[in-house]
Amino acid sequence: MPYSKKKVNNCLNIRDLRALARKNLPDAMFHYMDGAADDEITLARNTQAFNNYELMPNYLVDVEAVKLETEIFGQKLDLPFFLSPTGMNRLFHHEKELAVARVADSFGTLYSLSTVATSSIEEISAAIDGPKMFQIYIHKDEGLTREFVQRSKDSGFAALCLTVDVPTAGNRERELFYGMSMPPKLRYGNIIDFLKHPTWTSKLLMHPDFKLANVVARKDVIGKGVISLMDYFNTQLIPNVTWDHAQWLIEEWGGPFAIKGLLTKEDAIKAQNIGASAVMISNHGGRQLDSTPAPVDCVAEIRDAVGDDLELIVDGGIRRGTDVLKALALGANAVSIGRAYLFGLAAGGEFGVLRALSLLKDEVARGMALLGTPTVKDIGSKHVRLSKTSVKS
Ligand code: GLV
Repeated sequence: MPYSKKKVNNCLNIRDLRALARKNLPDAMFHYMDGAADDEITLARNTQAFNNYELMPNYLVDVEAVKLETEIFGQKLDLPFFLSPTGMNRLFHHEKELAVARVADSFGTLYSLSTVATSSIEEISAAIDGPKMFQIYIHKDEGLTREFVQRSKDSGFAALCLTVDVPTAGNRERELFYGMSMPPKLRYGNIIDFLKHPTWTSKLLMHPDFKLANVVARKDVIGKGVISLMDYFNTQLIPNVTWDHAQWLIEEWGGPFAIKGLLTKEDAIKAQNIGASAVMISNHGGRQLDSTPAPVDCVAEIRDAVGDDLELIVDGGIRRGTDVLKALALGANAVSIGRAYLFGLAAGGEFGVLRALSLLKDEVARGMALLGTPTVKDIGSKHVRLSKTSVKS
């Protein structure tokens, strides 16, 4: 049973793609993707925070040829947004990370591959020529961390990003409740749910390639056969990562380097002082410490503290082109999207990711024309302000 392109094309925005993803996926997969930590206050805040800002347009500006190009990690991108690393894409669609990377490449933007991806560094490198970033954790097995650095270099990755907000796994209750595991486990309690999603379930049987492709050779990691993301974090990563580790990795890598998961100006200044070229302002999509602020609410203060040299990326809650514009106006060099493209992947594989990126690209271009900003560089602090009225969307 094929995925329906018609249903994907009927999606008019990222919210519609999420609704289609919900229909396509068994509970354990959907809630792993959609869920977050504790009471999911941060998850909700990440998207809602954008509603607190107003965009301030200037008219009678020539916006006939709006240009979306931007530069980040020493790479020229055709869009001011790129794709964040997200784990275990095979759970959402059999075309997995490879499909996502191909679409990113076709849009001229950067693709980031997660350590816990179901496609390997080498597979991604063979699939696309465009700019790529590898997301790394500091593993207990130091040899594995070093190996990732070497493999990313050998495979032509342009940048490395170290995720630092996982000293322990967040309490993801939807994962625990619905029994998320890798590979997915058929249990007495979920058979009916799997049968209700025949397209996804038939692909489960036809393409049973559920493996953590980057660590598959490590028996100690996959030896248990079935592992949840929370288990992976708690068993494989060191709980005492410090600035010394980050500095060591920056030196090992020797190229564009982002620290992902910072939210305060103090930490951003430290990142800058140890030689990071970028900070991804992020709370891991609300999946780690609940009650943290939305990235978009942190960027202006961090920009004031670090000046213009450190690249800042707002990672979290982007669902609309206007969200991208607000983040840029508040001081970001670029933004990154995670769930927004995963909803597309689950909605319709490569075609669904294409739809997600097309919608966002059109929204950004239209928004820039309406804002009176023909290029990304034209977007500045005068185009945004906090609203006096709060609106829920
Ligand atoms: C992976 O990093 C996840 O949060 O699931």
